[in-house]
Amino acid sequence: GAPQTRTPTGAETGAPTTANGQQGAYLTTANGARLRDTDHSLKAGPRGPVLLQDHHLREKITHFDHERIPERVVHARGAGAHGVFTAYGTAEAVTRAGFLKKGRETEVFVRFSTVLGSRGSADTVRDTRGFATKFYTDEGTFDLVGNNMPVFFIQDAIKFPDIIHAGKPHPDREIPQAQSAHDTFWDFVSLHTEAQHHTIWNMSDRGIPRSYRTMEGFGVHTFRLVNEAGETVLAKFHWKPKLGVHSLTWEEAQMLSGMDPDFHRRDLYDAIEAGAYPEWELGIQVFPDTPEETFAGIDLLDPTKIVPEELAEVQPIGRLVLNRTPTNFFAETEQVAFHLGHLPPGIDVTNDPLLQGRLFSYVDTQLTRLGGPNFSQIPINRPHAAVNDMLRDGFHQHAVHAGVAPYRPNSLDGGNPFPAGDAEHAFVDVPVTVAQAPKVRANPASFDDHYSQVRLFWLSMSPVEQEHIIRAYTFELGKCYHQAIKERQLQSLANIDPVLCAQVATGLGLPAPQPTAPLADVTPSPALSQVGREWPTD
Ligand code: HEM
Repeated sequence: GAPQTRTPTGAETGAPTTANGQQGAYLTTANGARLRDTDHSLKAGPRGPVLLQDHHLREKITHFDHERIPERVVHARGAGAHGVFTAYGTAEAVTRAGFLKKGRETEVFVRFSTVLGSRGSADTVRDTRGFATKFYTDEGTFDLVGNNMPVFFIQDAIKFPDIIHAGKPHPDREIPQAQSAHDTFWDFVSLHTEAQHHTIWNMSDRGIPRSYRTMEGFGVHTFRLVNEAGETVLAKFHWKPKLGVHSLTWEEAQMLSGMDPDFHRRDLYDAIEAGAYPEWELGIQVFPDTPEETFAGIDLLDPTKIVPEELAEVQPIGRLVLNRTPTNFFAETEQVAFHLGHLPPGIDVTNDPLLQGRLFSYVDTQLTRLGGPNFSQIPINRPHAAVNDMLRDGFHQHAVHAGVAPYRPNSLDGGNPFPAGDAEHAFVDVPVTVAQAPKVRANPASFDDHYSQVRLFWLSMSPVEQEHIIRAYTFELGKCYHQAIKERQLQSLANIDPVLCAQVATGLGLPAPQPTAPLADVTPSPALSQVGREWPTD
């Protein structure tokens, strides 16, 4: 049958391609007609008027008028880099993913981002950072779409529009840009107390990283890994920076916002250009795949919970080196499209309700942001695995599909394409048993504990980190106009720790409330502190 492959690049027209990705030495129209002049419109005499028939003028201006695409609804500001991932082979027992086999090298593209600010906002604001990695594996692309914090604000994707509406600038004033210093943010997190864990991470030094190179990354959700024998485990992904985790001080972050709003973007670019390639080690925490989907009493489907590293060691499985800056920011960093559903055989999703909603959201938004259903053909998004799908037509279709029968089975194109069935490298959905239970709009009871791990985080901090957290809450809450919101957040702080609450209350000039429930009895996790950690070495 006729192969139904995509036309790979527009450059394959025979003409040599110049360094800027264009062809030929002469300036042309978009249709290749050589231009005598690009600086003067065609006019009726030197004093005009300008003639409507000037196609070059209209093409040049029309194209410019449409140069902008919508920025991402979240994570609009970011910076990216190319690199290579090398597997240690230490994950081979738990996953059949080919790119994790010993010594295997895979090309990657990483995009770091802030969450709330718009595309032109400052890099050093207090915010969560995105850490999204596209592994171009030969079994299909794997996107690990994580953050620099291991927990998320909400437990169910249905609240995502709500938390983002609360975190983005006030609809009336459109302030503040990319800071948590406003009423709607604190209104949300004090009313949805599941958000308190992520919030304390934001108020900690992790909210103002020194550099993308000094951030940890987390897949947040629990994933299900499946090995060659079909056996499964549950796992969480971690990125460990070789340089260790470092943050700015609040004063540095404030000054840099004015002096160099591109501080992180510049740092990433300069480091790579100087040959100081940023490195991370990828690690996994592995848990038995039990029907309860818990580990040490922690619900693994709750994205507001961590598993302390002291309870489940992070096992290194490979190394990432970023060694090439993008050639064109728009083509690569802006047009890259990540998706949690991009999974290679050997890695599968779980029923974490936040993860399940994300599986829907990303493609949906990208259909608008990238102008239709064919954005997987944009060079930065093209898989490095062979593609033979039955998707056809649509806006911005670049492929010239051969054959007449994009359906299965067929008797016209020799039956092609053939489903892989049980062939090697085929993706197999793990046949997890689905609970026999009534349909409900409810969470498991284990999701109701909103404070013990926040207290765990607080008690795991060094004194100087605690001092920074107190100052961050005081500064950010101090920007609220509504006293009732400050008081409600102080109530949450009382449920975390009386010292934290008292110090912030003093800073705000308000009384410190009493906890509404007994404080959790938790064992601190030294691994949560940035201080005195060991990081990957050669
Ligand atoms: C974008 C991470 C939760 C919707 C992103 C990006 C990252 C990220 C890193 C930027 C990707 C890039 O660089 O292009 C996370 C993490 C989450 C989370 C770690 C929780 C664990 C959610 C949820 C939703 C959501 C629950 C919606 C239900 C989006 C959307 C974008 C985005 C719409 C923009 C995508 C685009 O325009 O290409 N997220 N996110 N995220 N996220 Fe999430």
